[in-house]
Amino acid sequence: MAKKTSFFVCNNCGARQPKWVGRCPECGEWDSLTEQVSTYSTDLHRPTMPLEPTGPIRLAEAVEAGPSRTARIVSGFGELDRVLGGGLVPGQTVLLGGAPGIGKSTLMLHLAGMLGRSGQKVIYVTSEESVAQVAMRAERLGLDRAGIWIDAQTNLEIILNHIRDQKPAVVMIDSVQLIYKPGLSSAPGSVNQMRQCATELTWLAKSTGVSVLLVGHVTKRGMIAGPKILEHIVDVVLYFEGDRHHAYRVVRAAKNRFGSTNELGIFEMTEGGLKEVADPVGLFLHREYPLRPGRVTLAASEGSRILLVEVQALTSSSIPGVVKRKGTGVDSNRLSMILAVLERHAGLRLGSHDVYVNVVGGVRVTEPAADLALALSVAGAHTGKTLSDETVVFGELGLLGEIRPVNLGGQRVAEASRHGFGQIITAGAFKLDDDSGGKRNKAKIHCCYHLQDALKLLE
Ligand code: TYD
Ligand code: MG
Repeated sequence: MAKKTSFFVCNNCGARQPKWVGRCPECGEWDSLTEQVSTYSTDLHRPTMPLEPTGPIRLAEAVEAGPSRTARIVSGFGELDRVLGGGLVPGQTVLLGGAPGIGKSTLMLHLAGMLGRSGQKVIYVTSEESVAQVAMRAERLGLDRAGIWIDAQTNLEIILNHIRDQKPAVVMIDSVQLIYKPGLSSAPGSVNQMRQCATELTWLAKSTGVSVLLVGHVTKRGMIAGPKILEHIVDVVLYFEGDRHHAYRVVRAAKNRFGSTNELGIFEMTEGGLKEVADPVGLFLHREYPLRPGRVTLAASEGSRILLVEVQALTSSSIPGVVKRKGTGVDSNRLSMILAVLERHAGLRLGSHDVYVNVVGGVRVTEPAADLALALSVAGAHTGKTLSDETVVFGELGLLGEIRPVNLGGQRVAEASRHGFGQIITAGAFKLDDDSGGKRNKAKIHCCYHLQDALKLLE
């Protein structure tokens, strides 16, 4: 039965609304709703390609026969394998999102080269660039091109046929926003098209065991739907982040059905493409600059690794009635809480001051272990005092001003010590665990039970 419906879909988050509204009630984006008119048969709600045509089977048998026994595909591109949870899982779909120009295509081509070298067949579907352009880039990156097949194609049905014929181990679609399924009335990049294309590719992945990687642009605004709407369809969602003006790029997992979402892959964009950063601990520090009030070094944890990062704060008198509190790379709710604790329990008068906090190098630190470093940097900036240049800080702040211990404490101390920091400020209840090189630690550890004790270390 044919039926005509009209509804409005948010280009940012994919939420549906029956009527047009200026601001999406789900994600808060302005002017992001577009009308979708679809004439469809109600039968089309059923999947056209069932995942398991055999009907229900016993779970015990499913485990024996299922892909859990199949090994992961390890590319050897260590930083990416790490974020994926140890490599690609056969039959898995991965979405790689990121701003235009951040380096998604470069990352995919590197991965294709590494997979090709390890004997895997890869089809790289390019819907944005021509075969010649991709070939030029692959040459520039010095890739092993033997295992990579290039398919300049935008028609989903042709792409699916090519995958069925060629039987590759991995397929990359760069980008999912420019492929389309013929017969659907909406334009490539629309919510309808992207959902349908991603769903059909996911079915193919599950039924054949080929791993599918989808590349999608994240756009703040505009007619192209953001990859957010695909997040629930795919198994893994990776975001490629970083500042285009800085060389360092970070791949972060927002969702992973087969691994942890804590891990981070760190790369450097160079003339010769993306290089892995194997020891990033001290990467974001710039100790060559003279010490000024407001600078504090934080030992942050990112997955199983420790990163030493610089937290900066600035306070200045505000225009009466307009007090600004701005944090870059920090959780703004957490920052408000820390400022309130500073006012209440440390007597810092911030009421008529703007406060700016920044984590240097485009890193995002949202764990509570950053609290103490944020508090000390704001207090230092406000009072014109500093911690000694060789100090590293970590610890969680409670609402009463108490400082609580955090996870991986021993490792944070060990890494700070390895990078030549001689002083640590952390929680009173901190214990140096044995497994983390406690014996190798040469740093002096100041264990503070209350924020006021830590503030006394500012000079
Ligand atoms: P690209 O992978 O095309 O980005 P995306 O697919 O996310 O839009 O990479 C874009 C930028 O990367 C481009 O501005 C230039 C830079 N780049 C390098 O610095 N070195 C390189 O070797 C390559 C291939 C790209
Ligand atoms: Mg690209």
